[in-house]
Amino acid sequence: MPEITISNRKIEHVEICLYEKVEGYTSTLLENVRLVHQSLPGFSLSDVDTSVMFLKKRMSAPIIVTGMTGGTPELGRLNGLIAEVVEEFGLGMGVGSQRIAIEKKETRETFSIARKLAPSAPIIANIGAPQLMKGYGIKEIEEAVNMIEADAVAIHFNPAQEVFQPEGEPDYSMEILYKLKDISRNLGVPVIIKETGSGLSMEVVSLFYSNGFRYFDVSGQGGTSWISVEMFRGERKNNWKTESARLFSDWGNPTAASIVETRISAPDAYIIGSGGIRNGLDAAKAIALGADIGGFALPVLKAVMSGKDSLREFLKKSIFEIKAAMFLSGSKTVSDLAKAPLVITGELKDWLESRGISLSTLESVRKRRK
Ligand SMILES: Cc1cc2nc3c(=O)[nH]c(=O)nc-3n(C[C@H](O)[C@H](O)[C@H](O)COP(=O)(O)O)c2cc1C
Repeated sequence: MPEITISNRKIEHVEICLYEKVEGYTSTLLENVRLVHQSLPGFSLSDVDTSVMFLKKRMSAPIIVTGMTGGTPELGRLNGLIAEVVEEFGLGMGVGSQRIAIEKKETRETFSIARKLAPSAPIIANIGAPQLMKGYGIKEIEEAVNMIEADAVAIHFNPAQEVFQPEGEPDYSMEILYKLKDISRNLGVPVIIKETGSGLSMEVVSLFYSNGFRYFDVSGQGGTSWISVEMFRGERKNNWKTESARLFSDWGNPTAASIVETRISAPDAYIIGSGGIRNGLDAAKAIALGADIGGFALPVLKAVMSGKDSLREFLKKSIFEIKAAMFLSGSKTVSDLAKAPLVITGELKDWLESRGISLSTLESVRKRRK
């Protein structure tokens, strides 16, 4: 069997995400959220202001591309293409895990190209939480930040992926929290607590919030499923974990539920609503539920594979959809959208109720948002 290096695993991940069915096993539950239609918005569509502040920079719309790639020339090229379009549209982006660039300096350019081609965009560095258990500390995190002149660093949590990954090492002790707390005190940029498709919960967000963390990327369930990605890898390798991965393909906290759980636990935090956000209406609903901005991963990867124009089309359409949802819900600004009248039904309502979150509690938290 050939040796599994980080870079060929990364390529395999991208390839599986592009060509296998890695989403659609479950739902984000955003279909249980309705923004209430307003027949007299009180302004014109052209008056709608979709701009937001993120990491001290103004973006034209509440959208970022969350971290995916880097590490090989081809994946670096994708970072470059995404960065060019992100800069053009006035949005923000994250890069994929920079572990490979910490370990192999010659790969750094495949990440720094993002800053080079998106000089004014909020850019987010990325390191996996498990690396903190393997000796990474402030030095490595600073290296990742400096490498791309990042405005923040996302520390990604992927215990579900590690469990089902044929060669996974699920090591997630509390040491991660203690180390991160120390790092965040001494780092010049914010630390974002980021999931990778299984969704943050109230318990985890409360823990980080009480330890001073104020940035969260929920990456909920209903979009790219990393358990399924590892299931496909396992299948190719005839690995014994494959069937178990299939059994767990609906594991996780749906994005809509995860956004509410995060907002309830961290009322004044900056929240990225991601995981299965596939269009502008999804992003608008995510914001109305409690996110500050929406995050896309897989749809951007799929679009950029067909070239920059295809990514431009996707983002243009998504921004238009956010604008349309804002206009029709009577929201002139993104802050108005965060408080716009909302109806929550079905499974999402059941989820919240069984988690002890009443709709009136959610409403009062939403009303207090700035
Ligand atoms: C090909 C690919 C590679 C990814 N690599 C990373 C990564 O290195 N670090 C990370 O934090 N998240 C990574 N993600 C997770 C995404 O940032 C995102 O949280 C997740 O895919 C859910 O969003 P989606 O449903 O829009 O894809 C990756 C996603 C994809 C599709």
